[in-house]
Amino acid sequence: MTKRILFTGGSGKAGKHAVAWLLKAGYQVHNLDLVPLDLPGVTNLTVDITDSGQVFNAFSMHTDFSDLEHGRGVQPFDAVVHFAAVPRILIRPDNVTFQANVMGTYNVIEAAVKLGIRKIVIASSETTYGICFAEGHRDPHHLPFDEDYDVNPMDSYGLSKVVNESTARAFAERTGADIYALRIGNVIEPHEYDRFPDFVARPEARLRNAWCYIDARDLGQIVHLCLEKIRSRFSGLQCYERYRYGQSVPEAAGRALLSRRSVQAGDGAGRGAYPKPQDPRGARFSGGA
Ligand SMILES: NC(=O)c1ccc[n+]([C@@H]2O[C@H](COP(=O)([O-])OP(=O)(O)OC[C@H]3O[C@@H](n4cnc5c(N)ncnc54)[C@H](O)[C@@H]3O)[C@@H](O)[C@H]2O)c1
Repeated sequence: MTKRILFTGGSGKAGKHAVAWLLKAGYQVHNLDLVPLDLPGVTNLTVDITDSGQVFNAFSMHTDFSDLEHGRGVQPFDAVVHFAAVPRILIRPDNVTFQANVMGTYNVIEAAVKLGIRKIVIASSETTYGICFAEGHRDPHHLPFDEDYDVNPMDSYGLSKVVNESTARAFAERTGADIYALRIGNVIEPHEYDRFPDFVARPEARLRNAWCYIDARDLGQIVHLCLEKIRSRFSGLQCYERYRYGQSVPEAAGRALLSRRSVQAGDGAGRGAYPKPQDPRGARFSGGA
């Protein structure tokens, strides 16, 4: 039977590619967003996820007029993919970013588990590692980032994503729901590859992203794999580091830049000696219970 997916933030930069991927994979996708996604096959509902009542209603309503026809009431949803957010600092005031992301995620996960939806995928972020939006410069203490890397951001957005992972973990611990937090790198859409020559010419421009990115279409595939993954005997939250490493600038250029900066800062202790990147596409289990 077709799996029915609730997708928050499906109208956004990343969401629209993930939604398109899921549609192609045969899922039925219902998009909950402040603005609709104009894509054949998707149903839309205008929802503000910071309002718990709206989220509970959206999760327990028909998706379309055609749902009235069978007379069997609202059909259950199989999974929730949660992308809706203020996607970085400096779009909204810091407190609004924090509040919208933290309460939005709480509301979405709470409604899902209390309405019996056991599979949830949420968008976390590379910014949890505290490099991207650091005040001043903070060099990574090792590369590539992995799931064991310290999460210690200074900014309101990165902090909201750390809290969201804790929220997800709490609900997973309490209910045994199967929840995946994707620490997404900088999202690149197909038309944005013309930015890469500049990335190569100016490696310092990508330092805050640690030279990482994720193709939006790959993100769709990752979400798909999370939805298909049969739950292991581990219950709880699983966090995955998702990015492509070292493909936006030559790896050597990035390493040289970091070494140079470390020397200039007079801190050579261990820095600049970064381990060789492993397979950048290999996700690993971390955390969870
Ligand atoms: N773009 C990136 O490089 C990047 C990197 C890491 C993580 N992420 C995360 O991935 C997710 C998607 O990011 P994006 O780049 O597509 O952002 P986006 O701003 O393009 O899309 C976010 C969507 O969420 C919707 N939204 C915002 N507030 C809402 C609310 N209160 N209620 C309902 N809908 C709301 C917006 O209308 C928008 O369509 C976010 O959670 C973001 O934090 C993005």
